[in-house]
Amino acid sequence: MTQPDTSREVSRVVDAHTQREGAGFLVRRPVPTAGLRLVDPILLIDEMGPVEYAPGEAVGAPDHPHRGFETVTYLLEGEFEHEDSAGHHGLLRPGDVQWMTAGGGVVHSEMPSRRIQREGGKVHGFQIWINLPARLKLTQPRYQGIEASRIPKATSADGLARVSVIAGEALGAKAVIDTHTPVVFQDWTLEPGADLRLPVPPGHRAVVYVFQGEALVGERGQRVREGQLALLGDGATLRLRGGSSTARLLLLAGAPIEEPVAHYGPFVMNTREELEQAVLDYRSGKMGEITRTARLH
Ligand code: CO
Repeated sequence: MTQPDTSREVSRVVDAHTQREGAGFLVRRPVPTAGLRLVDPILLIDEMGPVEYAPGEAVGAPDHPHRGFETVTYLLEGEFEHEDSAGHHGLLRPGDVQWMTAGGGVVHSEMPSRRIQREGGKVHGFQIWINLPARLKLTQPRYQGIEASRIPKATSADGLARVSVIAGEALGAKAVIDTHTPVVFQDWTLEPGADLRLPVPPGHRAVVYVFQGEALVGERGQRVREGQLALLGDGATLRLRGGSSTARLLLLAGAPIEEPVAHYGPFVMNTREELEQAVLDYRSGKMGEITRTARLH
């Protein structure tokens, strides 16, 4: 139930688990994890790395399909290269965001850049999956590649909190990315002593994922540490405070879609029949293939 005049409190803290993805890179994954299947509309949160690759060691996720949702890649360190069957190509650098709507179907490749594959280097970033409602599951694929310099940033009046606004609005900065459903995606840095009360749209499902240091979340000041996700109860505002060292966290929220979720590997639909159709369409080539040209990165 929405209580628009209330501040959100932490309803549960979940530890991310670690697992291998794609061709074998390690991710820290707070959603889905044991007992937390999704945070409607957020289907998955993967923290890639941080990992330091030796020359020839970097791996990513070579050609694979998606249908029925959106993948958002946000890079903190390193370089990532994207190519897809809709003809999009992008090189992501630190702070860059790629918001890809798979919609009816796309085949894409997400790899550390050729330079990092060759020379080695550090890679750290996020990939978030956001569901689409039934009416948009087969929409036209779309790609929004936004460079770090175009991501709105803001600092609190006391200078102790900084934010990059990838989706939604914070400290007067409004996102430039267009989302199919209402979503909040913010990267916060909180120094010790930071103390904020932020508006978070009432009714949105919301989480805080801490990926460095620790933060105090909610009026009650629940301590949330690196690698932990705080699930938030409903309300119109959220209080965030810094801990004993610099904290980095993602604030993620979205308007719940409230439809059945059928998930099989890279496809997320409403029913089992739609998943079977997705597999058939992929196998028969209906999601296309990546046309590669020689590139130097
Ligand atoms: Co993918």
